[in-house]
Amino acid sequence: MLTKSQAKAFFLGGTALCGVAFLLLTLDTLAQMPARSNQDAMSEEVVRGHMIWNKNNCMGCHTILGEGAYYAPELTQVVERRGKEWIAAFLEDPESFYPGRRKMIKYDFYDPAIVGAEEAARNKADTIAFLEWVGNIDTNGFPAEPDLVQGAATQEIDPTKLEGAPEMFRNICFGCHQVGGQGGNVGPALDGVSERFEEDYLRQWIADPQAVKPGTTMPKFPMDEATLDAIVQYLQTL
Ligand code: HEC
Ligand code: HEC
Repeated sequence: MLTKSQAKAFFLGGTALCGVAFLLLTLDTLAQMPARSNQDAMSEEVVRGHMIWNKNNCMGCHTILGEGAYYAPELTQVVERRGKEWIAAFLEDPESFYPGRRKMIKYDFYDPAIVGAEEAARNKADTIAFLEWVGNIDTNGFPAEPDLVQGAATQEIDPTKLEGAPEMFRNICFGCHQVGGQGGNVGPALDGVSERFEEDYLRQWIADPQAVKPGTTMPKFPMDEATLDAIVQYLQTL
């Protein structure tokens, strides 16, 4: 049994010890903050992107750094997961990525047909800059694993396997399809695809998958004729 004065000393000593430990840990955290918060990289673009994020309450559906609503994907690592081109195309027309079942809002301010090419491009770039900045904060490994590891950007890519691939193929198609054992696995691997399908069919399919196979989950991507040609030509080489 402790005497009364021993108990008092134990209480005061313990409190002092914990107080000092708390103080040291707080100072340690404060000292680490500047390096970990990525604050040096906070450009004008990032700030504008943050405004877009707040003004439109993206957090009403998404979480970022674990905060927000659980309706839509966590976006802390989205740039790493999807790549910038993918996100820009998605923001402009989310529906075309997941026809018939998507819930992500199509915002007018990302649509060149509504606010003009310049404004839409700036809003997309700002949003992506903000998301990229958040992704570079040192969060001690949060989120544990990118939850949808489908994006090409998250893998070690052997560039020789993608030789000759058009830009759009690398940036978008590759996120869902494998070539030479690397890439995303949402859709089938595309090795040998030219032996399975005629060139004309591939052209129609890529231009508008819904028209060829209603209900398919392969999205339709906005692209010009030259890009379509280049992709179809490239598929012939696989
Ligand atoms: C009404 C709910 C809702 C709001 C508000 C919303 N989103 Fe989304 N978002 C979604 C859903 C659901 C998805 C998953 C894809 C889908 O179903 O379309 C998504 C997907 C995304 C993705 C792709 C994520 C991935 O891993 O593929 C990005 C980037 C994104 N949203 C950005 C934004 C931004 C930026 C805003 C605000 C300007 C916003 N979202 C507001 C519902 C929402
Ligand atoms: C969001 C994921 C996604 C992206 C991005 C994507 N695809 Fe697909 N793709 C799919 C899915 C899923 C299928 C299977 C669809 C089905 O059978 O209904 C598919 C099927 C295909 C097929 C038929 C392959 C076969 O063996 O049946 C080709 C060819 C193809 N995609 C080419 C492309 C090209 C080229 C691009 C880029 C312009 C692209 N895909 C981008 C998801 C995607």
